[in-house]
Amino acid sequence: MNKTRGPVRIGVLGCGTVGSEVVRLLQASATDLASRIGAPLELVGVAVKDPADPLPGNLDLDRTLLTGDALALAQRADVVVELMGGIEPARSAILAAIGAGASVVTANKALLGLHGPELYAAASAAGVEIYFEAAVGGAIPILRPIRESLAGDTITRVLGIVNGTTNYVLDRMTLEGLDFGEALRQAQRLGYAEADPTADIEGYDAASKAAILASLAFHTRVSADQVYREGIGQITAASVEAAGATGHVVKLLAIVERKGSAGVIARVHPSLVPLSHPLASVHGAFNAIYVEAEAAGELMFYGHGAGGRPTASAVVGDLVTVARHRVDGSLGPGESAYLALPALPVGQASTRYQIRLFVKDQPGVLAGVSRVFAAEGVSIETVRQTAGDGSNGVELATLTVVTHQAPERSLERVAQALRREATVASVVDVIRVEGV
Ligand code: HSE
Repeated sequence: MNKTRGPVRIGVLGCGTVGSEVVRLLQASATDLASRIGAPLELVGVAVKDPADPLPGNLDLDRTLLTGDALALAQRADVVVELMGGIEPARSAILAAIGAGASVVTANKALLGLHGPELYAAASAAGVEIYFEAAVGGAIPILRPIRESLAGDTITRVLGIVNGTTNYVLDRMTLEGLDFGEALRQAQRLGYAEADPTADIEGYDAASKAAILASLAFHTRVSADQVYREGIGQITAASVEAAGATGHVVKLLAIVERKGSAGVIARVHPSLVPLSHPLASVHGAFNAIYVEAEAAGELMFYGHGAGGRPTASAVVGDLVTVARHRVDGSLGPGESAYLALPALPVGQASTRYQIRLFVKDQPGVLAGVSRVFAAEGVSIETVRQTAGDGSNGVELATLTVVTHQAPERSLERVAQALRREATVASVVDVIRVEGV
């Protein structure tokens, strides 16, 4: 990389919750940052939708720095900080910045989850860098530990609570017995959930992060659209209560695992986590990422996964690294996808299911149900029966069956066969059990 002489010119694209906190940190810590980098940072512009709009949170900023032209700003900085989010115009602005010889810091998981390889290749060809610690887990240092600290090890699996909104909703359901709708409304009132919560609730945000984690952890390329995804909309207060009765808590997990040289599986879905697992004690909107590596063993990274100031901490951390590299003319590690492992379908995963059934409370029912599991070679770990209360004029009992580990495909077939079984009135819910 060419050395930057004199101040390092910074262009910030986007001045919302995170962008405004990045600007505030740059202002508040200017002297310290200059010492850490070896040159001062000079804020040369902040791109916003409309420069006439009020700035968020009484940000004290010279308004002549504001511009509505993100693309032009991207081409007159040494380091471009992209915090606009979304695919376009963020992708074009980043490519313009790289084309003009700038390095990039971004928190844009949706963009990296779909177009990461294109951007990494462009940066590598231009001899510049793209850093994105804030894209997964907000303030939590997780990508750099995976890329650098664990570069000598073999990571086998990563389990992450990487979406604070869904963790908040599920936590309220667990601790207060709220139903999904009430918990979501509470999250919206407190500003954790967006007015349109689809990206969080349906697992799209977590799937983008799973793709980034899988790509880095397994030295391969996994795109967000290769991540199996289920949201939390089907989880009811009764599912959460039943989880508690068997010693579990419901979490939305992003799970990425390596199946030797066959490939990698990336999935996002509600999961029952045993109360004894460290991820079970991650409450509220916090995030945590649990990494399993051959030599290091198990590691957990925990902290604020969203919010202006925490996310700005990770962004400015990257900014310091990238600016230092420009001052001394060096480059950090780029994309490492040498293994080129295929992304495998979720059917090839091995997991455990908890299946809740309403069944007729009569002789032979349990035998019939267990035959369905046996026919698919799925071993049952526990069965719990709660007597029916005669509601709807039918004596229905609830059976909660937890399986041993089995191929996902066999478990799917068990769930389908149970839906056809005459003594089974309904399959209430089917949730995977993870972290065992
Ligand atoms: N909306 C995300 C969350 C934060 O709820 O965790 C940004 O990725």
